[in-house]
Amino acid sequence: MIIFQNLLPSFERILQSELRSIQRTEPLQLYEPVAYTLQGGGKRIRPVLLLHAASLFTHQLEQFYPAAFAIELFHNFTLLHDDMMDHAGIRRGLPTVHIKYSENSAILSGDAMSIMAFRYLSKCNCIDLATIFDLFSTTALEVCEGQQYDMEFEQRDSVLIPEYLEMIRLKTAVLLACSLKIGALLASSPKRDCELLYDFGINIGIAFQLQDDWLDVYGDENTFGKKIGGDICENKKTFLYLKALELSTDKKRSILQSWIDLKEFDANQKINAVRDIYTESGAEKATRALMTKYHNQAIEALDQLSIPKSDKLELQNFAQTVVDRVK
Ligand code: IPE
Ligand code: IPE
Ligand code: MG
Ligand code: MG
Ligand code: MG
Repeated sequence: MIIFQNLLPSFERILQSELRSIQRTEPLQLYEPVAYTLQGGGKRIRPVLLLHAASLFTHQLEQFYPAAFAIELFHNFTLLHDDMMDHAGIRRGLPTVHIKYSENSAILSGDAMSIMAFRYLSKCNCIDLATIFDLFSTTALEVCEGQQYDMEFEQRDSVLIPEYLEMIRLKTAVLLACSLKIGALLASSPKRDCELLYDFGINIGIAFQLQDDWLDVYGDENTFGKKIGGDICENKKTFLYLKALELSTDKKRSILQSWIDLKEFDANQKINAVRDIYTESGAEKATRALMTKYHNQAIEALDQLSIPKSDKLELQNFAQTVVDRVK
C-alpha cells in the first residue's frame, strides 16, 4: 500500500531521528520496545493523512510533524495493548511486544507511548491548541470504548450489525478521521472542510476495518504480517460472522455456533471450517459490498470539499487503496 509518496519519506526521516533519541533514553527497557515497535514498519497511514490534510490548505508543513508523530505514536500504543488483548503473536511479520519482551513491557511501554503522544502534540505551533487537545483526547477515549465493545462482543451470543458498525467506528475510524481533522485544523482550513474531512475519515475508516477483518480471514500471512484466522479463533463478532449467521442455512448456522462454543479446538480446523461457511453463505460477498458502500460515502464527503477537484485526487486514490489493500 503506497500512499502520498511525497509525504511518506519525509515523515519517515523525522520518525527515525526522533527514535534515535528515544532509544537512548533511560530506563532503556522502557523505551526499547517503543523503538522496536516504531521501527517494525507499518503503513504510516494516520500521520501521512494528517500531513496531507494540512497540505490541502498550506505549504508550510514542517511545524506539523510533531502532531503527525504524535498520531503514529498513539496508534502504535493501541497496537501494543490490542495484541495482548487479542492474544496475537505476530505483527508486521515480527513477534509482538508482549511475546518478545513481556506483558508488563507491553503495558508500560504502551502507556509511555500514549503519554508521549500527548507531549508531542503539545509541541504544535497552533493558536487553538485546546481544540486540538479536546479532539485528540475525545478520540483516544472513543478508541478505548471501541476496544471495550470489541472484547464484550467476543463473549456475547447476539450482536447486532449496527452494534458492530458502531464498535469499528470507535475502535478504528475515529483515529483516521481525527488525523485528517487535526491536519485541517492546524492549517486553519474552513470549518466545513474540517467536518467533511472528518466525515471522509469515518467512512473510509469503517471500510478500512472491514477490509482488515476480511484480510484476517482471506489474506496472505506473509503479506498481511499478522496471523490469519486470529479473529476466528478469538470469536470476534465481525461483519463476516454476523452476516454468515444471518444468511446461513439452519444446519450451517448450528455448525458455526458449535465452533464458537468449543473451548478446545485445533486452530486450523476451526479457521478452515468457519472460512468455508463465510464464503458459502455469501457473507464474504456481502462484506465486500458493504465496504464499497462506505467507500462511496467517503467519496461523497470528498466531493463536497471546497478545494479544487485536482487536489482531491490523492485522497480519492487513497480511498481506493483502502478497499484494494492486501496489507
Ligand atoms: C492496524 O492498523 C489496526 C487497525 C485499525 C486495523 P494498520 O493496518 O494501519 O497498521 P500498521 O500501522 O500499518 O501496521
Ligand atoms: C484494531 O482492531 C483496533 C485497534 C488497534 C484500536 P484489530 O484487533 O482488528 O487490529 P489488528 O488486526 O490486530 O491490527
Ligand atoms: Mg488485534
Ligand atoms: Mg483487536
Ligand atoms: Mg484485525
